[in-house]
Amino acid sequence: MAQLWKGRFKKELAKETNDFNSSIKFDSRMYAQDIQGSIAHATMLGAAGIIDQNESNKIVQCLSEIYNDIKSGSLNIDMEAEDIHTFIEGELTARLGQTGKRLHTARSRNDQVALDIRLMLRNEIDKITEKIKELISVICNKAGENKETIMPGYTHLQRAQPITFGHHLMAYAAMLCRDLDRLKDVKKRMNVCPLGSGALAGTTYPLDRNMVAELLGFDDISANSLDGVSDRDFCIELAAALSLIMVHLSRFSEEIIMWCSWEFKFIELDDAFSTGSSIMPQKKNPDIAELVRGKSGRVFGDLTTLLTVMKGIALAYNKDMQEDKEAIFDAVDTVKMCLNAFTPMIDTMTVIKENMRNAAAKGFINATDCADYLVSKGLPFRDAYKATGELVAICIDKGLTLETLPIEEYKAVCDLFDKEVYTAISLEKCVNDRLVAGGPSAGSVEKQIEKAMSFIK
Ligand code: ARG
Repeated sequence: MAQLWKGRFKKELAKETNDFNSSIKFDSRMYAQDIQGSIAHATMLGAAGIIDQNESNKIVQCLSEIYNDIKSGSLNIDMEAEDIHTFIEGELTARLGQTGKRLHTARSRNDQVALDIRLMLRNEIDKITEKIKELISVICNKAGENKETIMPGYTHLQRAQPITFGHHLMAYAAMLCRDLDRLKDVKKRMNVCPLGSGALAGTTYPLDRNMVAELLGFDDISANSLDGVSDRDFCIELAAALSLIMVHLSRFSEEIIMWCSWEFKFIELDDAFSTGSSIMPQKKNPDIAELVRGKSGRVFGDLTTLLTVMKGIALAYNKDMQEDKEAIFDAVDTVKMCLNAFTPMIDTMTVIKENMRNAAAKGFINATDCADYLVSKGLPFRDAYKATGELVAICIDKGLTLETLPIEEYKAVCDLFDKEVYTAISLEKCVNDRLVAGGPSAGSVEKQIEKAMSFIK
């Protein structure tokens, strides 16, 4: 396939150079965006009288035919082409002759590619947004079913204070709501049209940049032509937002992996979302969660790639920037793939409430509430803390829990104790007295669910 830039060269491009230089293998996926951008450009060229209106119409018509032909499979993208822009323009010219050659008036592949990636990624943001909303809604659903399911809350992976499984799940909904917000914010800065920047210095043609921006659904046009062609902040911002999504999914995955282990057995994954071992017949492994945890590494790698590619390159376009696409597309694809598997895995998991409750009964997770009880009797918190610590030590010695320790033992440590302490340290009361907004009481979790659900509406 011929290059677009033949005129000044005397020799053919070496095959190795073409293989190395070509981006068609990864930018062909932008064919729809490339055509969409060219249709808007050609429409504006006609309207502004830069090319003949009749020729503009022909180009627009032919571009949509090319789109349909690629989509239906009747036209194959030539993998020998330098890039998708070259291929589409070549095909247009093959079909229209002279008229096709007018499309690239007042345009460079530099502003063209900057446009195509923006069109592509803003669409991907919408898809990922939908998938995250789905996950949030699945989480809210599970949280609603488990707003009274008592489990130990942890710090340092040591049992700390009683919470509910619903409360724990809603922490992930909160993270994912922030992720949605970040994606929206990234899209805002991404949704700016660079077309008209030309190669770097704009153009002498009387372009109507605002018309193109409007036709393509952009909020604005880029402010400076050098920046217009060489800005890839939006790729980096998106990779950063996607990295945080993966941080959240990997933390959730880690907990799923722990909770499925026989050491916890808080949940059981559906068979459809687990795998076995080729040698150990008893095994049921949480591979999906492990893979999601592992794939977070790819996305962080993509972010690092983009930052490193863009660091220190002089204005304006440099070929380094062709490296943006594989990295950001990989990040987008990975996040989508993870969400596709993760959401139904959460949706179908079984919660083993008794095991959560049993784990909550051990580990003295009501010790803070025991100390608070003494505070309610007038003891300063620091003294109450110390007395309760002594009680815990006695329990450990005797193999008892705060619930089973006789009242005489309590009174021996502090005479402010009486039998009501057993009510004060009941796990149900510990959870449901935490009425504070954002806390684990059933009412508070209900409000968290309402808030997350209205956020995704
Ligand atoms: N394939 C190129 C890229 O992805 C398109 C822009 C080419 N521009 C150029 N001046 N060689 O960056």
